[in-house]
Amino acid sequence: MRESQQSFHSILPFQPANKLVDSHGRRITYLRLAVTDRCNLRCRYCMPAEGIPFVLHDEILRYEEMLRLINIFASLGIRKLRLTGGEPFVRTGLLDFISTIKQQQKISRTCLTTNGVAVAEHLEELAELGISGLNMSLDSLDPDRFKQITRRNYFDRAWKTFTKTLELGIPLKINSVLYDEIEASEIIALAGISKKYPVTVRFIEQMPFNGLNSVAAGALTAGQAKKILQKSFPGLEPHGASGTAALYQAPEFKGKIGFINGYSRQFCQTCDKVRITAQGMLKTCLYDSGRLDLKAMLRTGQSDAEIREAIQKTVYKRAINGFAAEAEMMDYEKNSMSAIGG
Ligand code: 5AD
Ligand code: SF4
Repeated sequence: MRESQQSFHSILPFQPANKLVDSHGRRITYLRLAVTDRCNLRCRYCMPAEGIPFVLHDEILRYEEMLRLINIFASLGIRKLRLTGGEPFVRTGLLDFISTIKQQQKISRTCLTTNGVAVAEHLEELAELGISGLNMSLDSLDPDRFKQITRRNYFDRAWKTFTKTLELGIPLKINSVLYDEIEASEIIALAGISKKYPVTVRFIEQMPFNGLNSVAAGALTAGQAKKILQKSFPGLEPHGASGTAALYQAPEFKGKIGFINGYSRQFCQTCDKVRITAQGMLKTCLYDSGRLDLKAMLRTGQSDAEIREAIQKTVYKRAINGFAAEAEMMDYEKNSMSAIGG
């Protein structure tokens, strides 16, 4: 055994060699990887109108660097991978990248989070590649409102992706942020999607990741949204949980409704995921500011074993919950969800 491994196991005696666990007993099996911080929308809750200062191409992980990290994480028990952004489809070469990932046998599920505006033409190929599912952001069914929220007039493109994804049988979830100006009628209309289609519509509490360090006053909590929907759909009953979402369903629904308490953070004790930002920082919680510079390790010639060990150590020291992580955060004010990777 090498010296560094010895010291590692003496510090973390219960860390199994091929697993990622934290000191609070949570096992990590899910990796979210942001392939870019760029986006073709400018959602109000995510970034200011002028966008965020995007990072230079050289500062973003290259595909081969990401693949190396995926292999390392797979050797540590990661089984589910989600590619995020920014918007993943603004990065060229994404489909080739996914096809290479599919050769990594240990990753059993590869999913994507997208805003859907530049995806419709790639869906057949994604289905052929065996993508496990799409999460699509959609905050309104009204094209004018969509434009107001995203500052771009692309509702039709997003809706095309929605219908085509369903036609192709690719599992689909909708992410709707409970942004501060959302009206009850819009929440009800969005929930109507899961009544009509076999799709889970998840309402996400607005979080302070808009590049401005603020949640505008008046943003609804998941609990408030649930009350609104239970009035309109009295048959809505709890239907288990999936990841961070508490699920609900009514007898007349083809799909489900989910609520994600992203701001009130009631799901931390079962959190099984870590994130890598487009710049290659490992975040062990959505609310921490990045705990390990993986890009620096990759670019200074560190071996897989060294990177693996650093990941295990960093994950072990993960904060107990999002409030504790936030208290330690250094550069909160600079964060946009687009740079974090959702
Ligand atoms: N608060 C909550 N959710 C957000 N998202 C983007 N910005 C925010 C925010 N400030 C959501 C988008 C996307 C998901 C990954 O994160 O809806 O679908
Ligand atoms: Fe782009 Fe998603 Fe941010 Fe909207 S929320 S600007 S789609 S990264």
